[in-house]
Amino acid sequence: MSDNEAKISQSLKEKTKPKNFKKNPIKGTKFTIMISSAKGGVGKSTFAINLAFAFKKLGKKVGLLDADIYGPSLPKMIGLNEKPKTDGKLLFPLEKYGAQFMSLGFLVDDKTPMIWRGPMVISAIKTLTEKVAWKDLDFLIIDMPPGTGDTQLTFAQDVKIDGAIIVSTPQELALADVRRGIQMFDKTKINIVGLVDNMSFFKSDDGKKYNIFGEGGVEKTAKEFNKKFLGNIPISTKLRESADLGLPLTYKEPENEISQIFGKIADEIKQGVV
Ligand SMILES: Nc1ncnc2c1ncn2[C@@H]1O[C@H](COP(=O)(O)OP(=O)(O)O)[C@@H](O)[C@H]1O
Ligand SMILES: [Mg+2]
Repeated sequence: MSDNEAKISQSLKEKTKPKNFKKNPIKGTKFTIMISSAKGGVGKSTFAINLAFAFKKLGKKVGLLDADIYGPSLPKMIGLNEKPKTDGKLLFPLEKYGAQFMSLGFLVDDKTPMIWRGPMVISAIKTLTEKVAWKDLDFLIIDMPPGTGDTQLTFAQDVKIDGAIIVSTPQELALADVRRGIQMFDKTKINIVGLVDNMSFFKSDDGKKYNIFGEGGVEKTAKEFNKKFLGNIPISTKLRESADLGLPLTYKEPENEISQIFGKIADEIKQGVV
C-alpha cells in the first residue's frame, strides 16, 4: 500500500470509528453494565439485583444504579428507605449487604408519582450518572427503564457502557421489542453481551415443566442477530418473594439452584466485558 493509500485508509478508519470514546465514563467503577428490556414487567430489576450479588459472590465490588426514573423499584427490592448523604456536590450511594446502591426512589417519597418532562428526564439522568460518588467498584450495574425511547437513547449516547444485557420473557409479543432493542444498541455502538430468557418455564413439585410464555424464543432471537444467549431463568416463587422482602435470592441463598444460574450468567458477562 502506498503512503497515500495508507493515509486514506487511516482517515476512513477514523471516520467510521465508534463514537464510544466521546461518551462520559461513570466515575468510581471499572466497568459499567446496562440491563435493559424492551418491555416492562419482564423481570429486569429482579435480574439486575440478583446479578449484582452473583458478581459479589465472584469476589467483585458491585454497585447498582436504578435508572428507572418512572418506576424505581430498588428501594423495595433491597429494603432501603433512607436519604443518601451528600456533600452538596455529590450523592453518596447507600450500602447494604456489602454492595452500593442509588435510586431516585431514595430521593423522593414513594407516594409521589414520577411525572417527568423531557428536560427533567435529562437532568435526572445527569444527576444519576455524573453526581454519584461510587467507591472503587469493579462493576456498576444499571437497571434501565423499559423501552427504546428518548431516555434510553440519551443514556446510550452519552454514557460509556461496557456491555448491555437484554432481558425478556420468551413470548412473541416481547420478542418484537427485543429486536428493536438490539437495533438500538447496535446503532449506538454498544456491545451487547447477551440475551437472557426470564420466566422461561415453571416446574411443578412433581418435576413437570410448563412453558407458560412459550419456549426458546429469546435464544432464537439471539441466534437471529448473532448475539450470545446467556441462559434461562425459571419462574420461581422464591425469586419473587425474595424481591418483595428486600432480600435478594442470590444474597440470601447463594447455593440455591437459581442463584447458581445467576452465578454462571455473571461469569459469562464478566468474560464478555472485561
Ligand atoms: N423469574 C421470575 N419468577 C417469578 N417472578 C418473577 C421472576 N422475575 C421477575 N418476577 C416478578 O415479576 C414482577 C416484575 O419484575 P420486575 O423485575 O419488577 O420487572 P421489570 O423491572 O422488568 O419491570 C415482580 O413482581 C418480580 O418479583
Ligand atoms: Mg424495573
